[in-house]
Amino acid sequence: MAEKNPDKKKTTPAKNVVQLVASLRQQINHHNHRYHTLDQPGVSDAEFDRLFRDLKALEQEHPDLVSDDSPTQRVGSVPLPAFSQVQHELPMLSLDNAFGEDDMWDFDRRIKTRLELPADIGYDCEPKIDGVAVSLLYENGSLIRGATRGDGATGEDITRNVRTIESIPLSLMGKGYPSRIEVRGEVYFPLSSFDRMNLAAEKAGQKVFANPRNASAGTLRQLDSRETARRPLTMFAYSVGIVEGGELPETQSGILAALASWGIRVNPLIETVVGVDGCIEYYRKLVALRSSLDYEIDGVVFKVDGIAEQRKLGMLTRTPRWAIAHKFPAEEGITVLEDVEFQVGRTGAVTPVARLKPVQVGGVTISNATLHNMDEVARLGLVIGDTVVIQRAGDVIPKVISVLRDKRPKQIRQIILPAQCPACGSEVLQSEGEVIARCTGGLRCSAQRKERIRHFASRLAFDIEGLGDKLVNQLVDEGLISSPADLFQLTLEQLVNLERMAPKSANNFLEALEKSKTTTLSRFIYALGIQEVGESTARNLAQFYHGIAPLQQADEDSLQEVPDVGPIVAKNIAHFFHQEINHQVIDSLLESGVCWVEQESSVVSGALVGETYVLTGTLTSLTRNDAKARLISLGAKVSGSVSVKTSYVVAGDAAGSKLTKAQELGVAILSEADLLRRLEVHGA
Ligand code: IVH
Repeated sequence: MAEKNPDKKKTTPAKNVVQLVASLRQQINHHNHRYHTLDQPGVSDAEFDRLFRDLKALEQEHPDLVSDDSPTQRVGSVPLPAFSQVQHELPMLSLDNAFGEDDMWDFDRRIKTRLELPADIGYDCEPKIDGVAVSLLYENGSLIRGATRGDGATGEDITRNVRTIESIPLSLMGKGYPSRIEVRGEVYFPLSSFDRMNLAAEKAGQKVFANPRNASAGTLRQLDSRETARRPLTMFAYSVGIVEGGELPETQSGILAALASWGIRVNPLIETVVGVDGCIEYYRKLVALRSSLDYEIDGVVFKVDGIAEQRKLGMLTRTPRWAIAHKFPAEEGITVLEDVEFQVGRTGAVTPVARLKPVQVGGVTISNATLHNMDEVARLGLVIGDTVVIQRAGDVIPKVISVLRDKRPKQIRQIILPAQCPACGSEVLQSEGEVIARCTGGLRCSAQRKERIRHFASRLAFDIEGLGDKLVNQLVDEGLISSPADLFQLTLEQLVNLERMAPKSANNFLEALEKSKTTTLSRFIYALGIQEVGESTARNLAQFYHGIAPLQQADEDSLQEVPDVGPIVAKNIAHFFHQEINHQVIDSLLESGVCWVEQESSVVSGALVGETYVLTGTLTSLTRNDAKARLISLGAKVSGSVSVKTSYVVAGDAAGSKLTKAQELGVAILSEADLLRRLEVHGA
């Protein structure tokens, strides 16, 4: 039959094409659900790829048939300028914590009293996933919005990013779901993929994430959803928010089962128990299972199972009365100190590092721990051969926290600070009143050279992509470089001759070097690695001197006119510029084309513009530099001293005079956890 309107053929696909597309989508969704949600693959990867390719080809031929909920639409799209805000219709709550069995009994008693119920309560028990909370809004079965928790009342619209997560259905399966339902849950980064990603990033000299939770938060808050799509995030649902146009079961466990029947991923370890005894048994079971899981859990959540009872109990300001998180204690392990080695840092600091008999702590094998300095060794009364208690919290370097004296063997060795540097043999000196011992080799010491180059290439300095630890070691050990300035003399030929360096990586690295040459004066000063000249002092020096030459000539007195520069820092700077070699390095850098743009007046955009932070004390889960970089990336200023202009002081462990000053001046004080939350909320 002749076609009446030939154009029509292109836009209105034949009925069988429509059916074929629908059938392919149904099959792909079915297999996706089996693979990503149920963990029960139904077909081979090749077969799945074939279905996916067929669907893509049909959609390309018939663009009219592409719909938002097609499984092909999970790849992400062009970056957003910023996230818009989402007001949660019902607040996203937090949980009260129980730290032991006594707290659990108290919780149960409170509930029974309020409910006037003497009988044992039915509890729904769930693992507490250490990830990032999200809200997913489904209307008529279609995912229409994804949001972060934010401060509980207002979150951010991360719809594009959640749409890339394969285990989050774009449309609900089955029947009987309310016409409007908000699913809440925890998005996380599977541990196996996390380790793989970090290893690859480290090798490539790229940014590594401190822990899986940071990786999930960072990935969820990517403005470029194509990047989110590349990372294997997944989710477990644990509750619902707003529900309209339909009924849900009358128990928490029933609601979770209903969510699972609609294709939502729910944790398989969830159980219902009766009374506190059942809860405690569940807790012990999860403690034992913890290390075998492919996700981090930081405790167990108990929820009164009956929704009618939950309603009766109600909530406090931010936490429901009907739920509690029983947190796991900080993880500790016992092992033997087999040796102590001394590592040499950028400024020559010689630090003792414990080499331990490998031991599993919370599923991670620990074989090294930091001992900080010789004072710490003395405080612990530690000798080689001792049995020690080590503690690991999150992903921070494990610490030796105590010695089990009665386990001390006959054969022991004292821990002695070496008189000579283990890397270069120069004398190691510990000045009067100083805790830290230093190698006096300066740039003759290969360990110091390597650390200096690492520092020079780091994120807040020249930010040279691809220059990771391994490459620095290779370049120094092969004698290709001995100072940061030598980096810019490297040739393609030299690089491709290095082991494991393909021409493409060599070219990329040369390009990264070239790119890094345009910097700022403050980064340049910071990159020099002068002892105790951190990023904020470098900025003050840049603002004061407006050039490198006047700084090179400055004497100790004039240096002290710079904000934040006291006698010690002034002495360090003057000492640095007394050494001819440092002038040579600077000259060579400038000759090879290093230059700076006008000193940036500070970032003008970001959620924290106008706020000034002071970091003090020891942060445990991230380095100060990292905290600084993340604050600055959000537009905040980070200063070294507290004044009335300070917005917040972040007080880490053993915070001292700056904290006292903040208290005196009435400056708001944040804990490390507050800071992390703030950074996470704003996606840094
Ligand atoms: S229920 C009504 N269940 O823990 C209480 N939360 O400290 C709402 N979390 O913000 C939370 N696993 O991000 C609940 N099985 C679970 C959870 C869980 C992890 C997180 C969640 C929440 C935080 C509360």
